[in-house]
Amino acid sequence: MTDTNAAVPPRVPFQVPAHPEWPDLDPVAKADLSARITRLLREQNAVLVAHYYVDGDLQALAEATGGYVADSLEMARFGTETNASTLVVCGVRFMGETAKILNPEKRVLMPDLGATCSLDEGCPAEVFSAFCDAHPERTVVVYANTSAAVKARADWVVTSSIALPIVRHLHAQGEPVLWAPDKHLGRYVQRQTGADILLWDGACVVHEEFKGFALERLRRLHPDAAVLVHPESPEEVVAQADLVGSTTQLIQAVQQLPNREFIVATDEGIFWKMHQLAPDKHLIAAPTAGEGATCESCAHCPWMAMNALQNLEQVLMHGDQEIQIEESVRVRAVQPIQRMLDFARAHGIGGRRAQD
Ligand code: 13P
Ligand code: SF4
Repeated sequence: MTDTNAAVPPRVPFQVPAHPEWPDLDPVAKADLSARITRLLREQNAVLVAHYYVDGDLQALAEATGGYVADSLEMARFGTETNASTLVVCGVRFMGETAKILNPEKRVLMPDLGATCSLDEGCPAEVFSAFCDAHPERTVVVYANTSAAVKARADWVVTSSIALPIVRHLHAQGEPVLWAPDKHLGRYVQRQTGADILLWDGACVVHEEFKGFALERLRRLHPDAAVLVHPESPEEVVAQADLVGSTTQLIQAVQQLPNREFIVATDEGIFWKMHQLAPDKHLIAAPTAGEGATCESCAHCPWMAMNALQNLEQVLMHGDQEIQIEESVRVRAVQPIQRMLDFARAHGIGGRRAQD
């Protein structure tokens, strides 16, 4: 049972940036730019590691140049397996930091180091550390969407594809958990495992905007559609899901379920890979706002949108936007990440992308 009397720090405010407006490139300009980037990657022994939420052009280029497109767990794993000396992470900051923590000898670049995440922004290391100090009896489990300093304070790091088995394992050992930062994912894990979890108050600005009532109405219009939901979504949305899972698991569901139609509650960037792997399926975006209401992210992460072909070329030309992590933080942060990777290997979890 959750310790409801424990004081949880109030939600930390932060600024959500507007979606950047990248100029449209005609097909010839896009092909030229992609060719220049391909040359730079080769010259620098560099490889692209992209998340499913970034622009489809970046995902296509990653695949065409021997790079990798995956969820956050597989991105972390790929960085440790490639021989490339430079990893160019197209995603958000925590993904670049995880790559650097695991591969300190490699250069890790990102198109824009300002691409953070609302969960990371909403969990400052000092406040979080004080919260942990107040609950020394709890095992600290943090979502991968956190800074290196927060990971350095954790016992375990988890991603959405491995959170359930790890917390189930801790629960079986009788360990109470302190969970941060995503309260929706934390609550989902709590419900599924029955573990004693104390939740930090953080949320993803993309998934928190999906609306339960509007989804009910959409489902009535598409009664044969399967509803796929990322577990960062609110409880009333998760409750309507036919399948709850990480980005890879949602893509695999589109490929494997017999349904022709799918209502998808996650960042719309994922549609590129879903269309690529299951072109005959009809995909419908889950609603982010009721009638007359507004949305802040509108089902697309403003930080993921900071990645584009244009700034990818720039970072390869100038070598700026490089991830640096203080060694004293890195050596502590690597332990809970490595624990997760070892657990995944020991239990045969992951190790595959949707297309493998
Ligand atoms: P996955 O681990 O499912 O790829 O999710 C990462 C993320 O940031 C979701 O918002
Ligand atoms: Fe963070 Fe949400 Fe963006 Fe994922 S989609 S990176 S959780 S803000």
